[in-house]
Amino acid sequence: MTVYARRALLKFLATSPALASLAPFTTALADDRTLASAADALDVFDLESAAQRVVPPAHWGYLQSGVDGEATLRANQAAFSRYQLRPRRFVDVSRIDLSTEVLGTKLASPILLCPIGGLRSLHPEGDLALARAAKTKSALQIMSTQASFSVEDITAARGAPVWFQLYTTNQFEVTKKLVKRAESAGCPVVAVTVDLPAGRNMVTATRLRREDTRICSGCHTVDERGNPRPDLASRPMFAGVDTQGLGVTSPSLTWDFIRRLKDSTPMKVVIKGIEAREDAALAVKHGADGIIVSNHGGRATESGRGTLESLPEVVQGAAGRVPVLVDGGVRRGTDVYKALARGASAVGIGRPYAWGLAAFGQAGAERVLDILNTELRLAMVGCGARTVREISAGSLIDRGPAWR
Ligand SMILES: Cc1cc2nc3c(=O)[nH]c(=O)nc-3n(C[C@H](O)[C@H](O)[C@H](O)COP(=O)(O)O)c2cc1C
Repeated sequence: MTVYARRALLKFLATSPALASLAPFTTALADDRTLASAADALDVFDLESAAQRVVPPAHWGYLQSGVDGEATLRANQAAFSRYQLRPRRFVDVSRIDLSTEVLGTKLASPILLCPIGGLRSLHPEGDLALARAAKTKSALQIMSTQASFSVEDITAARGAPVWFQLYTTNQFEVTKKLVKRAESAGCPVVAVTVDLPAGRNMVTATRLRREDTRICSGCHTVDERGNPRPDLASRPMFAGVDTQGLGVTSPSLTWDFIRRLKDSTPMKVVIKGIEAREDAALAVKHGADGIIVSNHGGRATESGRGTLESLPEVVQGAAGRVPVLVDGGVRRGTDVYKALARGASAVGIGRPYAWGLAAFGQAGAERVLDILNTELRLAMVGCGARTVREISAGSLIDRGPAWR
């Protein structure tokens, strides 16, 4: 059901006299209520509704959009309902430890913040507010090449190094510059995104942009004539870079790019956007230090396949030689639990923290982490897993491929 259809149903339920006796139940569903503060949000969907009220339509389209008919976007979330948890009893769960470590980075929880470009389009403090939330919650933040603030400013706000997401670009000299800058700022890991070699078709984003043609000075700089500058030139990581003819990705790259990247930096190299067993094996063979199973939140290839479904074959291809992380469609702590049980070392979120950020800035992003961490903790309690390590495939039931 779309957000709009759900709203309409909730409104109908709330106003129907015939259903008045259900009022106590329907109010619990009332996602049209205005939240007075981030603390009022009971789940991440409350923050989605709150965000939609304050984000201009064009920016909302940018955030929510998938590609083509959005089958992959839907599949990411739907994949989690194929699996059920298998609770266990009489385990001493008085102490639950969510902490973990990935590639030498210590995390308070396996939930990490994936890169989203142009966060200032959602909140004036964008990546900086997010970095402060990550600091408070000791969460791992991966900043985007297209971030609204520089790696130096984001690292300062985080008070510790972040991971740097790299778009390959079509000019290796520029790629090297970006990597050196991240390296000098102290980033220990570069996560190179490989799922967008040659463009994409974002129908929802384009549709909503047509309805909302204002130029937003908060996220696009304008030239002396008041025309918006091409996005790249206005991104802080491209300051001092000649963006003429520069593309953030290149259709001609092959696996030797990873070797070249490895040879040009001491940072660990993680590949973001792997979905197949063969590619996982090739990633390891070409020197990758880690893998993120991702389809860019349903914004790259319209495969129709959720990342939770791709995860096991990637884990198999990596053969335990490098950590495998996953993102896409994670909206509940139980989703995080399921991804960990299917072999992920850590689990990324994108849109949920963006909703929190858009609605309430730093406090909203913190609330998203709190909600998901609480839900994860409760899933661990219920399944008798006291540490992230104790979360195993045995605590999942697979309802089979015909579960939908
Ligand atoms: C608005 C938006 C912008 C994004 N920008 C980037 C980016 O700059 N670099 C990148 O590697 N991934 C980007 N992603 C993908 C996210 O890092 C992540 O893979 C995805 O959001 C996870 O899915 P979820 O939103 O369902 O949690 C973006 C996603 C969204 C929604």
